[in-house]
Amino acid sequence: MKLNIALLAGDGIGPEVIDQAVKVSNAVAAKFNHEINWTPALTGAAAIDSVGEPYPDETHAICEAADAVLFGAIGHPRFDNDPSAKVRPEQGLLKMRKKLGLFANVRPTFTFPSLIDKSPLKRERIEGTDLIILRELTGGVYFGERGRKDNGNTAFDTMTYTRAEIQRLAKKGFEMAMTRSKRLCCVDKANVLESSRLWRETVQAMEKDYPEVEVSYEFVDAVAMRLVQWPSDYDVIITENLFGDILTDEASVISGSMGLMPSASVGEKARLYEPIHGSYPQAAGKDIANPLATVLSAAMLFEDFDLKNEAEAIRTVVNKSLAEGVVTEDLSEGGTAYKTSEVGDWLAKNL
Ligand code: IPM
Ligand code: MG
Repeated sequence: MKLNIALLAGDGIGPEVIDQAVKVSNAVAAKFNHEINWTPALTGAAAIDSVGEPYPDETHAICEAADAVLFGAIGHPRFDNDPSAKVRPEQGLLKMRKKLGLFANVRPTFTFPSLIDKSPLKRERIEGTDLIILRELTGGVYFGERGRKDNGNTAFDTMTYTRAEIQRLAKKGFEMAMTRSKRLCCVDKANVLESSRLWRETVQAMEKDYPEVEVSYEFVDAVAMRLVQWPSDYDVIITENLFGDILTDEASVISGSMGLMPSASVGEKARLYEPIHGSYPQAAGKDIANPLATVLSAAMLFEDFDLKNEAEAIRTVVNKSLAEGVVTEDLSEGGTAYKTSEVGDWLAKNL
């Protein structure tokens, strides 16, 4: 297969972890006879610095023309503590999601046998955890009307959803549940929020189309608690944008390191793959960040193009690196800490 992939390294550790995913993907392509054309493009603070815009039109054109996008991270501390900044790197991320129509964000949480004791949770709580949070990504409070009134002394952000937006996300959730254990949990705050009541009403109306799927409805505050108590109770979770943002960070630590979890964002046409961690500016340029979340995001990319053996090959070699202790400092616990680039080299070589 011939794949054209837009490469958006972004900020902080983005470029370093992306380099490793490229190495590993190229090794997979060589092994299975595929051809990958990478087209780098600017995004985030790096793009603001060079063209004054965190998601330039040229980058959008490259993403639209590509079969998929591989994305690193976005964000820079010099913007974080400056509420008056007019352009922010994160605006680029939101604009990219919206313009590419990436309405469904797939964030899996699973455990690695060799890392079970690295989790902050007890072994017996997390063994067998294998869940997917399907987060709505282009609606809700992230994109609703916002502003100030009352001379700037009152601020508001609006959580708005249309039935159609909920349906297209829920449809993906039902379909995903059908390929897994046929359990779907809709997470909302329907005891308080009108938008959540529309979520519940919409998902309930869809149940008849998927008679085999067992659907449960839970409030987000309760799920925040239950997720760390009994993560293996969950399989596919669907939820709105902000709840999904919070729950996926929470879920990511179950595996032992945030540096391990990949994600995919998909729309009607576009597909984007990225680690769920952020730009980790403290580590930028030091060659110490864990590249595995990005490498595993590349595995999700191959899988979505129906290249299952290729995806499996990546997961197998990642498991092997973990079992053999070829890990970055977040996982080395006093043992040898490998550099980001060394982990990437090792993975590519061992493929
Ligand atoms: C994420 C991030 C983003 C979000 C930020 C960087 C805007 O936290 O992808 O989860 O809130 O969606
Ligand atoms: Mg987040």
